[in-house]
Amino acid sequence: MSKELKGAAYWDARFQPSVYAYGEAPNDFLAWAAPQVKLGKAVSLCEGEGRNAVHLAKLGFEVTAVDFSSVGLAKAKALAERHQVTLNYIVADLKDFQLEENAWDLIVSVFSQPDVAVRQRLYAQLSASLRCGGAFILESKVSAEQAASRYPGLAALQQEIKPLQARFSCQDTRELCEGSYHVGLHTTAQILAFKT
Ligand SMILES: C[S@@+](CC[C@H](N)C(=O)[O-])C[C@H]1O[C@@H](n2cnc3c(N)ncnc32)[C@H](O)[C@@H]1O
Repeated sequence: MSKELKGAAYWDARFQPSVYAYGEAPNDFLAWAAPQVKLGKAVSLCEGEGRNAVHLAKLGFEVTAVDFSSVGLAKAKALAERHQVTLNYIVADLKDFQLEENAWDLIVSVFSQPDVAVRQRLYAQLSASLRCGGAFILESKVSAEQAASRYPGLAALQQEIKPLQARFSCQDTRELCEGSYHVGLHTTAQILAFKT
């Protein structure tokens, strides 16, 4: 894949092969956390090829998948059809995306990687966007602790999602086994937090 490609074009190229880049099974932290959240409307930011959205739909959530890669979301649609569930799709760059107020029971951010300013703007909207009792589920890679990093540490993320209350939060180095791109040891942050 050309290193010249940027933004959505980069991800469209990654998702072009028929094989699912991060696999078809859901992220294991999401699979553990989601049953703790009351069913309702869920939005998955940077959903990619649909593995997490399809899992949530199978649990009974009404899921909207947001991503700027139309190739990724086309594969999400194919995966959803194979699993006989329906998703809503929004092709959008998160830099132009607003989390509507009082709209969601679950907001998911699994291995999202928007720019720092985009992430901070969206995470500042989490509390207002969640309905009472709603939850935020995050897993992300950690490359540097500081908030200025695209992949910040747990402490920086916890600041950004305030005033949500964490039920579970962890930063650890763990084995990933998700398709061909998330393989081997990675340091990640995981959060399950609620609007109380
Ligand atoms: C590492 S992949 C993870 C995909 C999916 N969440 C998963 O866990 O399988 C990152 C995803 O973020 C999307 N993405 C990155 N920056 C984005 C942005 N600014 N707006 C919308 N989507 C973005 C990419 O298209 C890609 O699908």
